[in-house]
Amino acid sequence: MNVLAIETSCDETAISIVKTTQSSSNLNFQVLSDLVMSQIDIHVEYGGVFPAVAKREHAKNLVPILIRNLKESNIYTETQNQITNLDEIQKILEREPELFEQLSSLLQTIEKPDIETIAVTVGPGLAPALWVGVNFARALSAAWNISVIPVNHMEGHIASILLKNNFRDEKNALLNFKDFTFPVIALLISGGHTQLVLVRDWSNYEILGETIDDAVGEAFDKVARMLGMEYPGGPKISQAAKQGIENEHIKLPRPMINSKDYRFSFSGLKTAARYLIQDLENQNKLSEQTIADIAWEFEHAVTEVLTRKTLNAIEEHNAKGLIIAGGVSANKHITESFTEILTQYNIPLYLPEKTLTGDNSIMIAAAGLLNQWNKKRTALIPGEELKAVGNLKISS
Ligand code: KG4
Ligand code: ZN
Repeated sequence: MNVLAIETSCDETAISIVKTTQSSSNLNFQVLSDLVMSQIDIHVEYGGVFPAVAKREHAKNLVPILIRNLKESNIYTETQNQITNLDEIQKILEREPELFEQLSSLLQTIEKPDIETIAVTVGPGLAPALWVGVNFARALSAAWNISVIPVNHMEGHIASILLKNNFRDEKNALLNFKDFTFPVIALLISGGHTQLVLVRDWSNYEILGETIDDAVGEAFDKVARMLGMEYPGGPKISQAAKQGIENEHIKLPRPMINSKDYRFSFSGLKTAARYLIQDLENQNKLSEQTIADIAWEFEHAVTEVLTRKTLNAIEEHNAKGLIIAGGVSANKHITESFTEILTQYNIPLYLPEKTLTGDNSIMIAAAGLLNQWNKKRTALIPGEELKAVGNLKISS
């Protein structure tokens, strides 16, 4: 069975096609095609992601990316095709007229491809961005009369660690998910989210705690901006931090590090960084070295909070492993700190392959199929209600 996966929750437009090899005892797939188009260049101008801009870019790029996927997967066959329900498809895409124009001309010039179902991110994320992907999935479902699997983006990040390091060349791209011992703690850190999740089993999740204000990645991006670094600032801060050293005049707080819960707060850390930077600027002490020292201190403050809370969760739940996923899991200082600490606990650390830390659609295919396999959710038949939910929560 070929599955088309779509991800548009933030600033990456991602589509992939996977071929499943499924039996009653296991699930796996081969990646036939996988494309991610980043909008970063556009968002750099604005210093961050604006939902309306993200939506416009997704609408513009979905059809070209779909075409490239179909071609790469060898399921693109040109033909004159009569689509009988174009009215219905136009209604589904009434808020995305440009997308409708592109899609209707594609549908009328190719054969229905060998795709059995669509996995699409329905939340959490930026609602306008999510809706484009969801409406695109609804339109394709109507055009090709195929089902749709709604997928939670955070479950996608958790499932991202199941892809083997050489997943693009493997017939079986997924690790054997039955080899995992539960419970596992998942620390999900991205531009939009900071969550500790108790993973009781694949498809059985409980949020232990999350940020009450900014997400970790958001704090990285905002502090980077204060230091004159371009969006997305996470990688740039971590680059600058390599030249930084501990500096007694450059200190930042570790917010909520001693609170006896799994909530996080990064807004105060960001404000403290702002005052520190202003102070240094007023004293004419903002140099390349002090910037590197701020980056060092900021990265250490974040890491200390993340490690303390995560270790508390590991201990409380006697976890048998730790997953770290999401865009910020690309941060070497954070992952190396966890690797070092976990040796004391003698439990494995699961990280996504490096191209899968950020948003992608392979993880959406994996999470959607896992849920199907575990019978957590049934696929929706064409026409069944499918909605985007900006603040969707992960659930059991
Ligand atoms: O998961 P993701 O691609 O998108 C969301 O779902 O938000 O995460 C993007 C976030 C951005 O805030 C970016 O600055 C951050 O991940 N990020 C990093 C690093 N690489 C990406 N933060 C810190 N260190 C990095 N190396
Ligand atoms: Zn994400």
